[in-house]
Amino acid sequence: MAKKTTKVGGAKGKKTTKVGGAKGKKTTKIGGAKGKKTTKVGGANTKGVVAEKVQEVTLTIDGKELTVPRGTTLLQAAQGAGTEVPHYCYHPGLSSPAMCRLCLVEVVGAPKLLPACTTTVADGQVVLTQSDDATRMRRGVLEFYLLNHPLDCPICDQSGECDLQDHVFAEGREHGRGREAKRVLGRDDFGGDVLFYGDRCVMCTRCVRFMEEIEEKPLLTVVERGNRAVIDTFFDQGLEQSDWAGNVVDICPVGALVSKDFLHKARAWDLEHTSSICPNCSQGCNIELHTRDNLVHRMKPRTNLEVNGHWICDYGRSRYEWLNRSDRLEVPVVYAEERNKAMGWSAALEALKVRIDELGKSSVKAVVSPFWSNEDLGAVSGLVKTLGGGSVVFRSPRAEEEIALTGYEGLARRKALAPNEAGAELLGCARVGDDAGQGGLEDLADHDGVVLVLGDALDDQPGGFAPNATLVVYLGAYVSSALVSADFQFPVTTFAEQEGTFTNHTGRVQRFSPALSGPGVARPAWLVLGALLGALVDEKGPSTAEQAFGLVAKAVGSYQGLDYETIGAHGAPSGALVPVPGD
Ligand code: SF4
Ligand code: SF4
Ligand code: FES
Repeated sequence: MAKKTTKVGGAKGKKTTKVGGAKGKKTTKIGGAKGKKTTKVGGANTKGVVAEKVQEVTLTIDGKELTVPRGTTLLQAAQGAGTEVPHYCYHPGLSSPAMCRLCLVEVVGAPKLLPACTTTVADGQVVLTQSDDATRMRRGVLEFYLLNHPLDCPICDQSGECDLQDHVFAEGREHGRGREAKRVLGRDDFGGDVLFYGDRCVMCTRCVRFMEEIEEKPLLTVVERGNRAVIDTFFDQGLEQSDWAGNVVDICPVGALVSKDFLHKARAWDLEHTSSICPNCSQGCNIELHTRDNLVHRMKPRTNLEVNGHWICDYGRSRYEWLNRSDRLEVPVVYAEERNKAMGWSAALEALKVRIDELGKSSVKAVVSPFWSNEDLGAVSGLVKTLGGGSVVFRSPRAEEEIALTGYEGLARRKALAPNEAGAELLGCARVGDDAGQGGLEDLADHDGVVLVLGDALDDQPGGFAPNATLVVYLGAYVSSALVSADFQFPVTTFAEQEGTFTNHTGRVQRFSPALSGPGVARPAWLVLGALLGALVDEKGPSTAEQAFGLVAKAVGSYQGLDYETIGAHGAPSGALVPVPGD
């Protein structure tokens, strides 16, 4: 079974989260956080709202006494106590229509079972989620779901991470009693990356509510009534008109909505899940990289109520293939006697140290990539200072438009299409070049001192880059035709192959973990440069990413007080709001 993502309750930034009320009522977020425009009941304050005295109620769930804020739903209270109440239509980022009836629980004294997703807690309430009545009812509901469900788990992409599969396995009947033929709806192309398998749908309407409430583009709807009800698009208006439609695939609890890109690519239980940060714009959405056989197969959102809630954009989600490129530098290469020679790390770094010692203090011009980590960029800054000082620039692509997720405040595909421009700016690097991330390197190309390149393969530059330089060093992940005759070419890992941090457009520092193994003997740039720097100044360089970040935190005032522990799994503000030009 594939590893499960930790879910964080509550919905930040959403304008219409409704708990236990009529549709459209603008209220009540439970246990949530920032960004929402209305008063929150029973939790921490939203921005600018003066603290109210939180009213608490005490109730018992399955014999466990709990005290929770008034307004909490039974489902959330049970989750807080470690009891998962099965559910389909409830999602912490959406309104709750209470239509799947899977979350029915027994409340002692109530005349009938109540939906846990919309019933709020009351003082002295006694709730039983596992009573005979509750489990009998769930068993019955599940049997109804299976009347038409095709049970095509062996060919369904959701298999292994399907809520219907899990609930039926846990509590369903061993054998179905239905004798009638199942309804057959077949497959429909909803547009964009989304395919719809109507037979598998449990009609939870999460997808419809996402489009209405979060993207605020109602491109999906329920057509027909009763047992003929089916999800559909409006005539020829498909999900290609959406910029966030991939989220409906994520929140569909069964395999009714699947990704064309991922279709039949891998079984869920074969995928490793690694916490990471989306590298495709400066928003810094929290994601998981799902990998198998050392290849990234998909990117999924990781809940962070301070940055992206439960959502990511289609632009970011679809741009992971560059992490699987095979034209990689794999071993250190030293250019001598008009030919390239592969070397081991020790010999190559020793040869570079000898060259640097021969040159003495030099003026350095460096170009780095904002797709590389704070730790890597910090190591470049340190080396430039040690070699004699100079300038560091970066190039990065810019989109013409920002693409906001209108129903979720603070989340947008930013114009700055690199994850660590803010980190580069904080380290004193200056942006050059155009909005395609090209040009702007005339200074470097003519430089007659040391030229250092990190991460940018200079694809727009001619071969033999910087012909007048006394020394050219390229630390890169990919083979570069412009730098094929650089004095030293060192293979370094991408962010997906190492631990590190990016700083997003608000100055929030966020950690990522290695999801892939680097090719050959590639190593993180901070490790390579740290070893070189250590040899030059006769000190031990950092041996972990955490130590490398410690050096960056010392050098950058607004990172002070931050370390990997304080940054944690969901990032921490750096105290610097970094204006990313053009953002
Ligand atoms: S397609 Fe999926 S998300 Fe939409 S209603 Fe059906 S089961 Fe729910
Ligand atoms: S908004 Fe930016 S960071 Fe978030 S998923 Fe899209 S491209 Fe990635
Ligand atoms: S989750 Fe409560 S009725 Fe659907």
